[in-house]
Amino acid sequence: MTGAEGRKLTDLRGILQYIPQFREKTFILAIDGDIVTDENFATLLLDVALLWSLNIRVVLVHGASEQIRKLASERNVVASDVDGSGITDAATLDLALTASTRLTHEILEGLSANDLRAACTNVIIAHPVGILQGVDHLFTGKVERVDTELLQSLLTQGVVPVIPPLGFDGDGKTYRVNSDGVAVAVAEQLKAVKLIFVTSQDGLMYRGQIIRQMLVPELDAIVRQDTAGFSHRMLLKAQYAAAAGNAGVPRVHVINGTLDEGLLGEVFSNQGLGTLIHANEYENIRPAKKKDARAIQLLTKQGVEADELVRRTKSMIEKNLSDYFIFEIDKNPVACVALHVYPEQKQGELASLYVSASHENQGIGRKLTQFVENRARELGLKELLALSTQAFTYFQSKGGFVEGTPDVLPPARRERYDQSGRNSKVLVKKLT
Ligand SMILES: CC(C)(COP(=O)(O)OP(=O)(O)OC[C@H]1O[C@@H](n2cnc3c(N)ncnc32)[C@H](O)[C@@H]1OP(=O)(O)O)[C@@H](O)C(=O)NCCC(=O)NCCS
Repeated sequence: MTGAEGRKLTDLRGILQYIPQFREKTFILAIDGDIVTDENFATLLLDVALLWSLNIRVVLVHGASEQIRKLASERNVVASDVDGSGITDAATLDLALTASTRLTHEILEGLSANDLRAACTNVIIAHPVGILQGVDHLFTGKVERVDTELLQSLLTQGVVPVIPPLGFDGDGKTYRVNSDGVAVAVAEQLKAVKLIFVTSQDGLMYRGQIIRQMLVPELDAIVRQDTAGFSHRMLLKAQYAAAAGNAGVPRVHVINGTLDEGLLGEVFSNQGLGTLIHANEYENIRPAKKKDARAIQLLTKQGVEADELVRRTKSMIEKNLSDYFIFEIDKNPVACVALHVYPEQKQGELASLYVSASHENQGIGRKLTQFVENRARELGLKELLALSTQAFTYFQSKGGFVEGTPDVLPPARRERYDQSGRNSKVLVKKLT
């Protein structure tokens, strides 16, 4: 396992919390051609093998522009286009066929070295882009359809599909297609939970800075309104990332494939190393309003009766109302949570987490926990605490908390803890 020897046990716990949610889910890796020949590529494939061993289904889509460029200069021909976004003449199509076939073969070799069964596929059904503004784009193709049936059957048999940047039509003709476009289509049609662009850059660069996290509509707006903020190559990536988000792929990552822990670091952490473009998972979560105090009290009533939660009066809730958040479905509050902040200690306490019985086991508790954690990070807090009598294993296994002692509580909180006599377990999560 890459870098695993250097990991601390707590890091491993952090990783383990992600595994159930990704089991039998599909990730699409869109690998730029220059990454395949990078010295770190073997490590990347090792990580792919690790993901497969965790029952995560990984599909590899690769580009070939760097190799087409090299082959063109070796053969002394001028490539009419290298990345499948311009015009592909007959000579360039030939370059693309040779370059990508070699590259696919290299990937198959690497997968074999990791004991992974793999297959090069012809799953991209394409037609010619055609004549745009009077210019015939010749052998440049556009993805029409993805043969998802073939991909699914390979995936269920544990075979890694490798998809070259080539499309085929019903007459058996081949077209050059852009690999990122292929990856978006495949991610959309396979309903992948992640599309990861593996590039030689640290992430999406916009106006000289890396984008760490952004919501899909925000990225969509800047790729439309501020194209000058991106380099040509970046703009294409950003446009494809936005297209994937708009097509319903919940998480689109852009990572640096030349970094040792690029892929695992991105997949198994809340704060990846590259760029994350994500759908708004928190659209159901909103700050509590005055009128919600009663709903919070009613919602948590059962939890209080079962001694899962501390009894709080309506006026206590009202007093700290700005700490509370509501999860609502069709305007009905179905769950709540609070984040109490201890600014001096730079600590936060996740409290009053309650999901109504009718909505349990749908991931709502996890979303609220994640929401509070992200909010605590935004507020610059260093540690998140949770006190629990009956859900401590939940916080450990689903939230990555570890058991602490009451000594970690701020003095005033410690006093209340001792007075309550509830003997809750104290759970801690470092937010570094
Ligand atoms: C604990 C609680 C918040 C979980 O919310 P949820 O939305 O049902 O949980 P999720 O859908 O995110 O996660 C479900 C997973 O958590 C597990 N889980 C649920 N309650 C658990 C508990 N008390 N202890 C350990 N694991 C628990 C489920 O078995 C399920 O596991 P799986 O994914 O491996 O199948 C909810 O059950 C609740 O409100 N409990 C009562 C109040 C409470 O104890 N709050 C915490 C004190 S602050």
